[in-house]
Amino acid sequence: MRKNIVAGNWKMNLNYSEAKQLMLKLLEYKKNNKTNCEVWIAPPSLYLTTAKDTFDNGEIGVFSQDISEFRSGAYTGETSVEMISSIGINGSLVSHSERRQFHGETDSQANVKIKNLLDKNLTPIYCNGENLEQRKSGKYLDVVKNQTETALFNLSADEIQKVVIAYEPVWAIGTGETASADQAQEVHAFIRNLIAEKYEKEVADEISILYGGSVKPDNAKEIFSKPDVDGGLIGGAALKIEDFSKIIEGF
Ligand code: G3P
Repeated sequence: MRKNIVAGNWKMNLNYSEAKQLMLKLLEYKKNNKTNCEVWIAPPSLYLTTAKDTFDNGEIGVFSQDISEFRSGAYTGETSVEMISSIGINGSLVSHSERRQFHGETDSQANVKIKNLLDKNLTPIYCNGENLEQRKSGKYLDVVKNQTETALFNLSADEIQKVVIAYEPVWAIGTGETASADQAQEVHAFIRNLIAEKYEKEVADEISILYGGSVKPDNAKEIFSKPDVDGGLIGGAALKIEDFSKIIEGF
């Protein structure tokens, strides 16, 4: 079901004490403020249990930053869908650009991970987006089309409606070079139309599509105001409660 979502991707940041403090501040904020969106976090996997225990009434959705494409076995260092499901985690990011860049993750692998999550009734947050060269060459829509088709188009209509999509232009991640609200809207509408053509408009209209890439307190409201933008996937600004809360208030 389509909803407004602000999700914080903490990446590989914060020691345990800092992470716990941020969780407690986020819990206090959520308890004392009415929000017009769901609030999710993706902390380092080491802290997932702590997050679940902190948000024990489900005030905040808790997501892994990645999961294995394998179900179980001799895959040292990896975490399976079964494992995160067994501790009550809500889902996982899939194919974040940093997993693609540093670990060679592909959209075919993303498709396997997405199916693994859906099989356990968990929510995939499927990340895609073009790099600077692809943006400058004008090929960015072709890139996003190929990514989306490869990762999602063998899902059933019921399955794809359970996927949250995060469009994150790589050139905007961590750079301060935020895509304009119109640039975000163009690609979000393109993705939604792709899905509508493959499935049906009613299916495409049920999918939450988040924007990620240098979302900050001063640009969130305009980006979130766009008709096909359903929220944001936030990196650096999610690590400071004063910034993350202002982004949440962008709705
Ligand atoms: O997953 C969200 C992240 O890639 C965006 O990072 O620091 O540009 O908000 P940032």
